[in-house]
Amino acid sequence: MAVSTKFGPFLRSGLSRAHYQAPATVGYMSRNSSTASTPNIQPMKDEDRIFTNLYGRHDWKLKGAMARGDWYKTKEIILKGEEWILKEIKDSGLRGRGGAGFPTGMKWGFMNKPSDGRPKYLVVNADEGEPGTCKDREIMRHDPHKLVEGCLVAGRAMGARAAYIYIRGEFYNEASNMQVAINEAYKAGLLGKNACGSGYDFDVYMHRGAGAYICGEETALIESLEGKQGKPRLKPPFPADVGVFGCPTTVANVETVAVAPQIICRRGASWFASFGRERNTGTKLFNISGNVKYPTTVEETMSIPLRDLIERHAGGVEGGWDNLLGVIPGGSSTPLIPKDVCSDVLMDFDALVAAQTGLGTAAVIVVNKQQDIVRSIARLIEFYKHESCGQCTPCREGTGWMMKIMDRFVVGNAKPDEIDMLWELSKQIEGHTICALGDGAAWPVQGLIRHYRPELEQRMKEFHAQKEQQKAAATA
Ligand SMILES: Cc1cc2nc3c(=O)[nH]c(=O)nc-3n(C[C@H](O)[C@H](O)[C@H](O)COP(=O)(O)O)c2cc1C
Ligand code: SF4
Repeated sequence: MAVSTKFGPFLRSGLSRAHYQAPATVGYMSRNSSTASTPNIQPMKDEDRIFTNLYGRHDWKLKGAMARGDWYKTKEIILKGEEWILKEIKDSGLRGRGGAGFPTGMKWGFMNKPSDGRPKYLVVNADEGEPGTCKDREIMRHDPHKLVEGCLVAGRAMGARAAYIYIRGEFYNEASNMQVAINEAYKAGLLGKNACGSGYDFDVYMHRGAGAYICGEETALIESLEGKQGKPRLKPPFPADVGVFGCPTTVANVETVAVAPQIICRRGASWFASFGRERNTGTKLFNISGNVKYPTTVEETMSIPLRDLIERHAGGVEGGWDNLLGVIPGGSSTPLIPKDVCSDVLMDFDALVAAQTGLGTAAVIVVNKQQDIVRSIARLIEFYKHESCGQCTPCREGTGWMMKIMDRFVVGNAKPDEIDMLWELSKQIEGHTICALGDGAAWPVQGLIRHYRPELEQRMKEFHAQKEQQKAAATA
């Protein structure tokens, strides 16, 4: 199965300082090497980090942000114009950080058609509802000016008139800090008419949603922003043709937008492209949660080996690496991978697709042997059932059916044949719906069946043996 990302058509310089080479087991080769070998891992240096206030240790307001290099020569960047900015973004190899991994330069370039008089908009997706994911909120809470400046630069690249930041309603502190940063930027002449003295007029608005997972899907988000129920639209037309308020729109993730000024102005496309592997470049925010000693969010180079990421930054698996059962590598909708795959796999788009999962939002959920993996996946399916907007029959009905079957699987009250039935059901949902929520519900189940079928069968065996014993005891 070619699962690549959760959300979209991209199922989902010198080599990096880290010189990550893929392990021989998955047959990757580093771009500067003709043979695969053991990864040569260098920790990412602090001076290479884009998000220098990720943990909120410094002043997040304008003064602090400027001291850390934000808003530096932004006017010059704006004056270089859209073609130059877009070229830098394309050369950097940046791929969307919202889950689908679509090449950002190409996506933003779709906005550059001859004007028909309608204004264009950038919409920043700050909904961050994917279970396990908690990276965008750190940017907004602790480094809001990175996003505000990113809006201006990305907006300029698209010829946009304004940016709307659509933020999950529950993120009260994040929305509040963002608004303070926006107000500061207006006051300092960095936004509004003649932003940064560049002659370009650009506004940024905050919009708080009500916290529905589906409102993270770009067209549902647009509907919600327009004041309607957050239900995905059929595509085409794509947002770049008919988006918010009927105008050309690009929806982009917080992290994607926030890194743009750094790539473009401060350090250059080739600097960004020097991290990670070809087609998988840059630095990336990873969330590590679950059964690790120290759950964390960390900026690391793309293509870092998963094991290294967990051991270096999260203190390792609780109970040690041998106590690892599996990992959900990219947020709840990406399929589980078992320990033997985790031992070698690299954290990037292509490596995880090859491992039949996806990078998604890069939210790593670690599961150790003390967890009930069947119950954990059943809980996720309950989430997807709850969040389905109900427009498509396979998603609306299928998530409910999957949930009921999974609930029985948890206690083993099923026949082994039903495992294939559940697989088939997930396949009837995947790819047959308006939006990718259906895929996101199907993939966790598929990951479970692919790698943990013996556990499911064992549970059923034990359940039926117990029933037989009870029957025998009752008739004795
Ligand atoms: C059900 C669902 C939920 C989504 N939630 C989010 C989200 O919370 N944040 C986000 O950036 N993208 C989310 N996406 C992906 C968006 O539709 C879109 O691909 C993304 O915002 C594009 O940004 P990028 O190109 O910068 O990655 C979601 C997609 C689906 C199907
Ligand atoms: S796939 Fe599910 S969430 Fe997406 S539009 Fe269809 S019913 Fe709604």
